[in-house]
Amino acid sequence: MLNIAVLVSGGGTNLQALIDAQNAGQIENGALSLVISSKADAYALERAKQAGISTRVLLRRAFAGQADYDAALLALLAEYQIDLVVLAGFMTIISETVIREYENKIINVHPALIPSFCGPGFYGLHVHEAALKKGVKVSGATVHFVNEVCDGGPIILQKAVEVCQDDTPETLQRRIMEQAEWKLLPEAVSLFCAGKIAVENGRTIIKD
Ligand code: GAR
Repeated sequence: MLNIAVLVSGGGTNLQALIDAQNAGQIENGALSLVISSKADAYALERAKQAGISTRVLLRRAFAGQADYDAALLALLAEYQIDLVVLAGFMTIISETVIREYENKIINVHPALIPSFCGPGFYGLHVHEAALKKGVKVSGATVHFVNEVCDGGPIILQKAVEVCQDDTPETLQRRIMEQAEWKLLPEAVSLFCAGKIAVENGRTIIKD
């Protein structure tokens, strides 16, 4: 069994999708062992507690510098013997120190089809605002490994979602969550835990 940590900052609907998948027996070789929030009042913490998952709050501003924060995060991951880190709406940047320690073991869900609408500044509703501003007819979600380039790591899964003419950032966000994010993230976690994702030359290969 691989131990999974989910890092959150907000509502935690993607965390909920993982909890539901675990309860449905869809993550065969993994267990949600720890939820770390960058905010003390994130509703995601409630979801974790209701599911009986250990929770911790790690505030970036509580640490004097990046090195102290990194050390605290790595110590927490070591304490729970974490094998896979899932960023599910986590709004604190993960430093290279942590990325190096967990190379190809950190998964992020991004609410657009990378390489569109991604990189610094593209998070949450901003992503959907940008997609609507551009007038794209299709958007979607991407699950990828995290490397030192913001939203630039090897892509694991992607799913396209239709953009409607009367969409607001909120309606588009909701459709992308429902049709893509909440499906792709549990699927990617399940594949990882089954040892079915390989990375070669910066690209993933899904084994069947
Ligand atoms: C999700 O749409 C996720 O893709 C996005 O934040 C939302 C979190 O919602 N993440 C990013 O924008 C990362 N760049 P949730 O807390 O309900 O899962």
